[in-house]
Amino acid sequence: MLATTLFARKWNHLSTIKPLFLFSKIKWFIAWFGGNHPKAEYANINWDELRFSLTPTDYMYVMNCFKEENFSKGFLAPFGSIELSPSSGVLNYGQGLIEGLKAYRKENDQGILLFRPELNALRMKMGADRMCMPSPTIEQFVNAVKETVIANKRWIPPPGKGALYVRPLLMGTGPSLGVAPAPEYTFLAYSSPVGKYFKVPMNLLVEDNLFRAVPGGTGGIKSITNYSPIYKAMSKAKTKGFSDILFLDAATGKNIEEASASNIFLVKGNSIITPAANGTILPGITRKSIIEMAMNFGYQVEESPVSLEEMLGAEEVFCTGTAMVVNSVASITYRNKRMEYKTGEETVAEKLYAMLTGVQTGRIEDKMGWTVEINT
Ligand SMILES: Cc1ncc(COP(=O)(O)O)c(C=O)c1O
Repeated sequence: MLATTLFARKWNHLSTIKPLFLFSKIKWFIAWFGGNHPKAEYANINWDELRFSLTPTDYMYVMNCFKEENFSKGFLAPFGSIELSPSSGVLNYGQGLIEGLKAYRKENDQGILLFRPELNALRMKMGADRMCMPSPTIEQFVNAVKETVIANKRWIPPPGKGALYVRPLLMGTGPSLGVAPAPEYTFLAYSSPVGKYFKVPMNLLVEDNLFRAVPGGTGGIKSITNYSPIYKAMSKAKTKGFSDILFLDAATGKNIEEASASNIFLVKGNSIITPAANGTILPGITRKSIIEMAMNFGYQVEESPVSLEEMLGAEEVFCTGTAMVVNSVASITYRNKRMEYKTGEETVAEKLYAMLTGVQTGRIEDKMGWTVEINT
């Protein structure tokens, strides 16, 4: 009896994340038991108008656990609003992490591919350790992503039109008034179709007044607290017509680090240089893949501090990230001085972009074993 009561109490607590309205529960019931499966092969939207913005899909994947315990089985729920205690760790103290990865339909619709999802799982694990949160195992994370993709299959754009972006979250959802790790945690993965990144060479503005990360801080993990503090600098740069900002290291103000949500590379002859990811730079999964791919192409790849002066001497500069994959940088402006770089068909960036997107979408054979096929 006591055990049953305790279990019920625990379960009640753990269900802090639940669909907000009864309506969504009814929709869920109808969807699964009302013979509404399988849904139409493709959602009825204009795939040509997709951009990198939210298009709500059908389901999200949720897993809950208590502090100092492990996540166990999760469940799919209709995509929708969630209930949170006003004193939850994530709302009060920013105890939260994000991840981001894409699922692509292969040519002729012959399967669905994820790109190195275990690396996103690993990065979340490292972040969770830094932020005192329990994290899903690699297997649980990858399984959650797969389930999210399968449940939202009709929202995966047709080949060549984009991808289904999956956004896993890990957050302290239990209440905590004092500054302390939350007593309960939620892992949640939702998705949105996103269009093909519209590749236009970027014009970056070096920010030398505001810093994204400090040594010993959280720049090397995908903490939710890393993003809104840069909005001010980003908005200012965008008002002036720049595409993004380029951050300097907070310790010396002399070395370049990364842009707001992408890593940066310099090309000089046969050398490719990228700032070493030593804690203040997010170790991007695209960054890692580009380093490995460039080495295979025979480039000399170096991960080391990159000074502003060194940047002046580069022939070509490009950024990498899940959303853009690889994108050329046309110019970098530092204190009213504008440096211009090579862009276009003949660039190293273009060569790496073609190869990487080819592997991600299954057009080019994946000799590195990077892609994970989802069986539906
Ligand atoms: C700050 C920052 N740097 C770099 C990246 C690129 O990382 P990835 O290649 O894993 O998408 C991201 C991605 O979101 C980011 O937020």
